[in-house]
Amino acid sequence: MTTEHVVLVGLMGTGKTTVGKRVARELGRRFVDSDAEIEGLHGRSVRDIFESSGEPAFRKIESELLEQLLASDVAVVLATGGGVVLAERNRRLLKQTRHVVWLRAEVGTLESRLRATKGLARRPLLDGDLRQRLEVLSYERGDLYREVATSIIDVDGLDSDQVCDLVLDRVGGSER
Ligand code: S3P
Repeated sequence: MTTEHVVLVGLMGTGKTTVGKRVARELGRRFVDSDAEIEGLHGRSVRDIFESSGEPAFRKIESELLEQLLASDVAVVLATGGGVVLAERNRRLLKQTRHVVWLRAEVGTLESRLRATKGLARRPLLDGDLRQRLEVLSYERGDLYREVATSIIDVDGLDSDQVCDLVLDRVGGSER
């Protein structure tokens, strides 16, 4: 089994946090959720950082955290925020990481999951027309996720245990 960091990327609602927690438990690793870590370190919600300091301030914090975590010798399972791939600097770091798993989903899947889990209130980029926002983000980011991913899992129709098993399979086999 891998001794390297395992990084999950993908759009909001793909299940990075739920799956990441299970993968970490199976691997006996520390789990880090990027957004939760940022909220804990700064004592403010992601929405509050977006609203009072602006998205660029959030992206800077997010990049610094990514850099710090990936530089650490202690391997973690990291659930990134969906926008981590926007910064070239982050993509460069991710491309040097052995296991970057893209949890990919159809927009319809994300829309129903996000509505069902009440995950919208804390995601400022989804304010407004949810379907349209997801379609734009999916279109804009698809190539960026593909650029950094060592492995892709289509999560539509799968539950988090099934996705977790697939991640474990992939990190056992797929390496840069
Ligand atoms: C964002 C995704 C969110 C959070 C922020 C911005 C994005 O994380 O970092 O609201 O740009 O896709 P999750 O993907 O964990 O929801």
